[in-house]
Amino acid sequence: MQKYQNYNLQHWNTFHIPAIASTVFVLEKDDDFHTAPFHLMKGQIMVIGSGSNLLFCADYQGTVIKVENKGVSLVEEHGDDVLLQVAAGEEWECVVNYCLEHGYGGPENLTLIPGQTGSAVVQNIGAYGVEIKDVVERVEAVEIASGKLVVFQNQGCEFAYRSSIFKARYKGQYLVKSVVLRLTKKPVLKLDYGSIHKYLGGRDPETITVNDVASVIRDVRRSKLPDYQKIGNAGSFFKNPVVENDVFNRLKTVYPDMPAYPLEDGTVKLAAGWLIEKAGWKGFREGDAGVYPLQALVIVNYGNASGRDIYQLSERIKNDVWEKFGVSLQREVMVIGTPGE
Ligand code: EPU
Repeated sequence: MQKYQNYNLQHWNTFHIPAIASTVFVLEKDDDFHTAPFHLMKGQIMVIGSGSNLLFCADYQGTVIKVENKGVSLVEEHGDDVLLQVAAGEEWECVVNYCLEHGYGGPENLTLIPGQTGSAVVQNIGAYGVEIKDVVERVEAVEIASGKLVVFQNQGCEFAYRSSIFKARYKGQYLVKSVVLRLTKKPVLKLDYGSIHKYLGGRDPETITVNDVASVIRDVRRSKLPDYQKIGNAGSFFKNPVVENDVFNRLKTVYPDMPAYPLEDGTVKLAAGWLIEKAGWKGFREGDAGVYPLQALVIVNYGNASGRDIYQLSERIKNDVWEKFGVSLQREVMVIGTPGE
């Protein structure tokens, strides 16, 4: 375990925003999750994986716990089912690659999503019709207040759209140590998400492999999402808003081509990227803060934007979308510190 004081987190967030944390503990081994002096950590505590969903608007006056434990191991094999235990600090893309190499199906649609496995579970990452909750068997987490290891079965994780019990009800109370994934050697491929179908169209479904699916998704993602190593960003900045059916009907009469996904409970999920583009923000840039020209849902730092610059741009977009469409956008990104006006 490493400990640092007054540590700059610029390289630990994918927006590349400088922010000083008073104290940082880096948990490198599984044992560190049990020996870390949680009881001595005063003030607020924040857990960071790869920092791919964080926007720092101020320095952090508290303790940062950086999760770096590694390891992937097979814990059970039953017929076609495989249970894989993954350390929280393992990069999610490495896990996807491991599964692809072994022909294990389940996470192939979730390729090229930045971040570590623990944080992927906390925010229930999703893409192309799949969410990580679809492959999670159970999660092992340490309760920060007591240092006790608690096992959460899938149902107990209270997964929701980009959320889980660790991000909602028990926010800040648990530290994910490892995740057990349930995979299959007989993958049932999910190809129904618009562009995936189109790219694989015409092929006999029997001949399509998990590697084919991952490869198409990688092409699609690379074609419209910026690489955070070159341009700072945190993927989708906002969640796709869910509205009541009457709001959707009102909008649909004015914008018949508006993308919409009806949900089981009668509400409708709209595409935030479409709303932002229609409101005229796609490709907008002021200083080093901008809206990515190829995907309006992604706010980018072209170099030296501050967290406040990014936040203020997001506020302008949010207000404008509200004025133009009467739809309220919620951030997917976690804002750290009070950005002010
Ligand atoms: N659209 C526009 N203009 C844009 C962006 C999108 O008109 O600038 C339209 C598209 O044409 C499409 C619809 O909006 O009709 C949805 O777009 P897309 O398929 O690109 O997906 P998304 O809703 O923008 C979501 C996730 C992404 C995930 C993709 C693919 C959220 C907030 N975002 O984006 O996740 O990769 O679907 O499944 O749910 C992330 O969370 O960081 C992320 C990148």
